[in-house]
Amino acid sequence: MELENQLLARGERTAIRRFTRTDVEAWVSWPRHSDPLLQDYNSPYLKPRERDLWYAERAARPDHAMYAIEDADTNLIGRLFLRQIDTVRRSAILGVDLRSDRLDEGLGTDALRAFTRYFFEDLRQETLKLDVAAYNDRARWVYEKLGWVRVGEHWNTYPSIFMPGVFEDPAMAPIRPFFRAQPGSISVLHYDMDLTQQNWLEVNGR
Ligand SMILES: CC(C)(COP(=O)(O)OP(=O)(O)OC[C@H]1O[C@@H](n2cnc3c(N)ncnc32)[C@H](O)[C@@H]1OP(=O)(O)O)[C@@H](O)C(=O)NCCC(=O)NCCS
Repeated sequence: MELENQLLARGERTAIRRFTRTDVEAWVSWPRHSDPLLQDYNSPYLKPRERDLWYAERAARPDHAMYAIEDADTNLIGRLFLRQIDTVRRSAILGVDLRSDRLDEGLGTDALRAFTRYFFEDLRQETLKLDVAAYNDRARWVYEKLGWVRVGEHWNTYPSIFMPGVFEDPAMAPIRPFFRAQPGSISVLHYDMDLTQQNWLEVNGR
């Protein structure tokens, strides 16, 4: 039987275990992203009762799994999610985010390398899918480095307050083609990427 704090995968500088109700407390106190492009990854403001509900609702989803990323000192420094777990196709859709003050230290690459090994070798799955905003160059690079391949694209729609200044701020001009404005909403281009067990073996296999 899998214990709550049992390590499921170990990288060189990170480890992966199940995300617990206790982790919600640490997650909601993470510092907020200052980069306007990463606002979507800030934790929501949740009162204690709402944290219970947030966790219970997700933990109960049959096609969903939540994992914690720990650093070498066992601090919670990131989260990994699987959604739309498909037991027939042996696939799932991945989500990942690190706390804002731990980006660009190599921890995301390390954790994803460890997690994909767990996903393909231990869970014996076939395809780990994800979608990534076209403007998120860092995440796209990390995924490509680990073997994910672009297989399609789609537009996600958000309330128009989502990305203030994207059509006016000259600094945002290079990423403007990835946004479309509609009355009351804004759409953002996302790339669909797949990591198959075969690709994973070619890139990461022993
Ligand atoms: C995406 C994320 C998980 C990556 O983890 P990380 O620990 O920050 O990334 P790493 O330090 O392991 O690697 C970053 C790589 O991107 C490169 N990089 C950094 N900023 C970049 C940019 N603007 N454009 C292109 N590459 C960039 C780095 O040079 C490094 O590449 P290298 O290892 O070849 O030198 C993390 O940044 C994160 O949680 N971001 C916020 C939430 C998010 O974007 N989630 C993904 C949603 S799909």
